[in-house]
Amino acid sequence: MPRAAGKRGRRRPTQAERADRHVLYERAVQNVDFEVEFVTDTFKALRRRRPHIVREDFCGTANAACAWVRAHPRNRAIGVDLDPDVLDWGRRHHVAALTRGQQRRLQLIQGDVLKVRTDPVDAVLAMNFSYWCFKTRPLLKRYFKRVREHLVDDGIFFLDAYGGYEAHQELREETDHGRFIYVWDQAEYDPMSGHMTTHIHFKFPDGSRLDRAFTYHWRLWTLPELRELLDEAGFSRVTVYAQGWDEARDEPSDTFEPVERLDADAGWVACLVAEK
Ligand SMILES: C[S@@+](CC[C@H](N)C(=O)[O-])C[C@H]1O[C@@H](n2cnc3c(N)ncnc32)[C@H](O)[C@@H]1O
Repeated sequence: MPRAAGKRGRRRPTQAERADRHVLYERAVQNVDFEVEFVTDTFKALRRRRPHIVREDFCGTANAACAWVRAHPRNRAIGVDLDPDVLDWGRRHHVAALTRGQQRRLQLIQGDVLKVRTDPVDAVLAMNFSYWCFKTRPLLKRYFKRVREHLVDDGIFFLDAYGGYEAHQELREETDHGRFIYVWDQAEYDPMSGHMTTHIHFKFPDGSRLDRAFTYHWRLWTLPELRELLDEAGFSRVTVYAQGWDEARDEPSDTFEPVERLDADAGWVACLVAEK
């Protein structure tokens, strides 16, 4: 046996080599059960009925769409993403774990959210700031208009945003998740255009790293800009729900409440609720 193929040639793969970047992303960034609950409860409070059909734009691994069909036997979801590889990952990991009945209530479309045509839905979700890939007012307004066209008459569009003075800085923020450290890297920000480049890296206890597991080229949109564009796109009412603060734990809480104004904090996360 050639030596390289024998025992002495073998090296145990590092934690980074064994890791799956989508699994790490979902653990560090997403909370799809909370999203499903927030969309359901907020829709019911505003419309006095339960929403059943949602479209998850920029769905990536379709984690939220799968959670939606799991949440209620009448729920249906459509997931839209440009990238066939991430959709394929979602099919193998999330869709495969659904029951046949749940799978029948889910549709995944490889397509551009600016062009896709879908059945009218109760709610469209654009989460984790993905729509910030549209960097000009005309493009973002076009997207908002298309979303509105695909909503039923009492439909609602849910989209999130973040800000605060630290959002305008080039910085790295680390969060320890026990088996890995999540690194949010605001690598470049140009105040002139608002364009930013951000990366997600992961670091592991054995010292290995997954650098630039994800990279985004975005525009840092502000709440006044987003509210104006949603208004111009024809939405009748836009309400901002801000993430609460857990005083006991001294960290952001799991609740989002409608607010009229926000504190000028270092960092905040909000959800915009735009009613057709
Ligand atoms: C931040 S990731 C997914 C985030 C996911 N929605 C979440 O909540 O974590 C952004 C996704 O948007 C997709 N994407 C970017 N531009 C798109 C477009 N014009 N139409 C559809 N998907 C797009 C990318 O392929 C990528 O999977």
